[in-house]
Amino acid sequence: MNYIGSKLSLLDFLEETIAKVTGHKTGKKLVFADLFAGTGIVGTTFKKKGYTVIANDIQHYSYVLNKHYIENSPPLDKSLLGHLNSLAGIDGFIYNNYCLGSGSGRNYFTDYNGRKCDAIRQEIEQLYAKKEISESEYYFFLASLINSIDKYANTASVYGAFLKHIKKSAARKFHLELLPVIDGCKNGRVYNHDVNDLIQNISGDILYLDPPYNARQYCTNYHVLETISRYDNPTLYGKTGLREYAEQKSAFCSKRTVEIVFEDLIAKADFDYIFLSYNNEGLMSIDNIRAIMEKYGQYDLFTTDYRRFRADKEESRNHKASATLEYLHCLIRN
Ligand SMILES: C[S@@+](CC[C@H](N)C(=O)[O-])C[C@H]1O[C@@H](n2cnc3c(N)ncnc32)[C@H](O)[C@@H]1O
Repeated sequence: MNYIGSKLSLLDFLEETIAKVTGHKTGKKLVFADLFAGTGIVGTTFKKKGYTVIANDIQHYSYVLNKHYIENSPPLDKSLLGHLNSLAGIDGFIYNNYCLGSGSGRNYFTDYNGRKCDAIRQEIEQLYAKKEISESEYYFFLASLINSIDKYANTASVYGAFLKHIKKSAARKFHLELLPVIDGCKNGRVYNHDVNDLIQNISGDILYLDPPYNARQYCTNYHVLETISRYDNPTLYGKTGLREYAEQKSAFCSKRTVEIVFEDLIAKADFDYIFLSYNNEGLMSIDNIRAIMEKYGQYDLFTTDYRRFRADKEESRNHKASATLEYLHCLIRN
């Protein structure tokens, strides 16, 4: 998934630095927490290494992706894929609110793809309600739907706006593809909480933190995926069809609150090692991050170059730096 702040292209840097700092040769009998999990790519990587992964995110679509990647293990029954793909489209919430043919005025998906998405989403729910699929299969199919439908979105990159004309990738006929099932430690747990609430109830060896870096809220940029995930018939507002998001607004996206919630998190974390991903254009300065982390143990800083998230280039904003520096702040707790 093309996700703001995804660490897909930084995985080698993260793995190497974390191994160097901790000295861990394997993750066996060790707990790794990924508490701003997003697409789940970091937790998945450490699950494969044998760590017991605790994943969390405030967004429901991320919770669903992580329920599948972290809690599910092979083998999973894939035989329903053909049935789901063969369903006839229906006029459900997605078609009625995010497609032009329904008169919604919104153009996030073609009529065909929106109706197909509704049919598959409703069928997954009904199969689960009738106990014809297990909880594991429910999250497997739902996570796969969220990941697949995103590839057909008629947006520049995120769901803050839709395009006027259907772009090439959005014009293709929707086809559900199943996500891989990850082999690794089977004891993972996944949560859908505000990180500052969850931190008091968990403990472990490595805490990996990858909060938003700037004011762009995930709840508004990915609201369509949130609604497909919850499928809770929300009231939508305005031209872009935002759902109510007051409860998902992140304090990490505000200059006024970010350092308060960050220090609260570090102070309460019951973990031996804490790693924070952040870049040189984020709301918190390096010096302020260091000043906060140093209070709680031995601090170190690692750096690598990073190509900016694609959306920023497309919107051709005037950024001061042409390349972004990506930091990994490390803390060994006293
Ligand atoms: C930079 S992204 C994480 C990307 C992830 N590491 C990946 O590679 O896909 C930040 C994530 O933090 C989540 N988030 C923001 N504020 C949060 C909070 N207070 N509690 C839990 N999750 C939060 C967002 O929903 C978003 O998915």
